[in-house]
Amino acid sequence: MYTFDVSAADKAELYRDLVQALDGLTADEPDAIANMANAAALLWEYLPDLNWAGFYRNVGGELVLGPFQGKAACIRIPFGSGVCGAAAATLDTQRVEDVHAFPGHIACDAASASELVVPIVHEGRLIGVLDLDSPSPARFTAEDQAGCEALVAVLAGRIS
Ligand code: SME
Repeated sequence: MYTFDVSAADKAELYRDLVQALDGLTADEPDAIANMANAAALLWEYLPDLNWAGFYRNVGGELVLGPFQGKAACIRIPFGSGVCGAAAATLDTQRVEDVHAFPGHIACDAASASELVVPIVHEGRLIGVLDLDSPSPARFTAEDQAGCEALVAVLAGRIS
C-alpha cells in the first residue's frame, strides 16, 4: 500500500506534493504502462472535480488510449483531431475552458465541460499526452497547467 502526504491547502502546494508523490511512485519502475496507470490513479484521487484522467500514447503517429480513470473512452485519435490531437500536432498544452466551443472536440463523455491536455515529449520524441477532463467549465487554471506540465516532466523519461 502506498500512502501519500498530499496537501490541498492551495494549488501550488497540491502540485508540489503530487510531483513528489509521482516521483516516488515511478522512480524505480521501468514499465511504462505501470507508471502511467499509477499516475492516472494518483491524479484521479487528488485532483478535485475531474470526470476523466489518463493517457493517450503515440503509437506510430496516432494517439491510442492508455491507462486512465473515468468512463470508457474513444480508443484512437488522429493527430490534429480534437483537443488531444491538437496537443499532439502542435506539442503545445491545450487548456480549453469550454470544450463545446473547441473546433472538433471529441466528446468521449457528455459530462465533460473543460479539458487540459499536456503533450509528453522525451528526448525530442512525442510519447503521448496527459488528458484531464472536468464537468465544470473553466476548471483548469494556469496553475493547473504549470502543475501538470511539472508532473509530465517527471514522468516523460519513465513512460518511454
Ligand atoms: N475530448 C478529447 C478526447 C479524449 S476524451 O476526453 C477522454 C479530445 O477532444 O481530444
